[in-house]
Amino acid sequence: MTDTTAPVAFPQDRTCPYHPPAAYGPLRATRPLARVTLFDGREVWLVTGHAVARDLLADPRLSSNREHPGFPMPTARFAAIRARRAALLGVDDPEHRDQRRTVAGDFTYKRAVALRPRIQEIVDERLDTMIAQGPPADLVSDFALPVPSMVICALLGVPYADHDFFEAQSRRLLRGPAAADVEDARDRLEAYFGALIDRKRKAPGTGLLDDLVRRHPQGGAVDREQLVALATILLVAGHETTANMISLGTYTLLQNPDRLAELRADPSLVPGAVEELIRMLSIADGMLRVAVEDIEVAGTTIRAGDGVVFSTSVINRDETVYPEPDTLDWHRPARHHVAFGFGIHQCLGQNLARAELDIALRTLFDRLPGLRLAAPADEIPFKPGDTIQGMLELPVTW
Ligand code: HEM
Repeated sequence: MTDTTAPVAFPQDRTCPYHPPAAYGPLRATRPLARVTLFDGREVWLVTGHAVARDLLADPRLSSNREHPGFPMPTARFAAIRARRAALLGVDDPEHRDQRRTVAGDFTYKRAVALRPRIQEIVDERLDTMIAQGPPADLVSDFALPVPSMVICALLGVPYADHDFFEAQSRRLLRGPAAADVEDARDRLEAYFGALIDRKRKAPGTGLLDDLVRRHPQGGAVDREQLVALATILLVAGHETTANMISLGTYTLLQNPDRLAELRADPSLVPGAVEELIRMLSIADGMLRVAVEDIEVAGTTIRAGDGVVFSTSVINRDETVYPEPDTLDWHRPARHHVAFGFGIHQCLGQNLARAELDIALRTLFDRLPGLRLAAPADEIPFKPGDTIQGMLELPVTW
């Protein structure tokens, strides 16, 4: 059934950090499509049904071109950078395919498996430090953020010593507060990567960016500007997302002690639990597209020029695919969720993210069996609905 009568505002803040906002109730009741209103009052389609979401995400009549006048803008700060093209995420095939080929080989399942020992070392080292200094601790700044930040630095060949700079700029890029912050953060990150790539051209080292400058010498098909754009998205997407999953995943497990006990009793459940947490938390809630041709779907016509937004949190709770969708169930086949997207833009870093989450959560609860919240659960601040979801801080003790 398609509801075209009562548009709900999108996005909205969550009421509980691991459930979709209570205000999305009507959207969950009207699958597979609904109308929603964006911050600027514009009405767009919201995709809410699982099967239709996968069909549409694989449909080349939906474009990721942010410069298209119909492209849906979720926030004022996002609108301010619409004319600036993001590598991969902001381009359509065939350009997208060429960009993706440049780095796809570095993000395979095999590569993620090969990285596991290094990820384990990083996780152990961060926990050693946190345990030596605490309790209590802020799990976000002491563990959830540094782990993926160190991993993506090691992978790309970015000096972790610069983490204060790039973490702060990534935060401004994704959360503002003002439009000018977003633009300035992007300028600074691009200037940083421009200088880093120039240095690597003179003396390449061992990271992925070093391989890229070797594979694409000056004057080749992939120019400096493209390398900078790729480096920027890989670094930003590579640490913020996983950091949020670790903090929110830990909070969710601590709030669901029965499920946590089940994991402790049988660690072979961890990979299934990681997948279920990725489905349940749906931290990247709101993929954006614009229709470039009319599309007939579910008895409705999406017109060329219409904005189309995909709510991963609502789609991943479609009860026709996930019975009792609001319940964590380590045994369910959660793998077909759309928390990593679907189609040509499906998350490049998903194998890496799964490996990091598996190692981080497994080791954290193994080494700190008494881990618990150090503040009342409902007083711990989490991120607003207009950005990647996660905890702003996570006070813990053990
Ligand atoms: C659990 C953590 C993560 C989540 C939930 C997540 C989510 C997503 C989603 C939903 C998309 C698709 C966006 C769209 O279609 O509009 C995406 C794309 C992408 N992700 Fe992730 N991501 C995660 C971790 C990572 C990591 C660790 C990296 C490492 C580099 C990464 C790199 C990317 C890139 C480069 C794209 C764009 C791919 C393309 O357009 O071809 N992500 N991610």
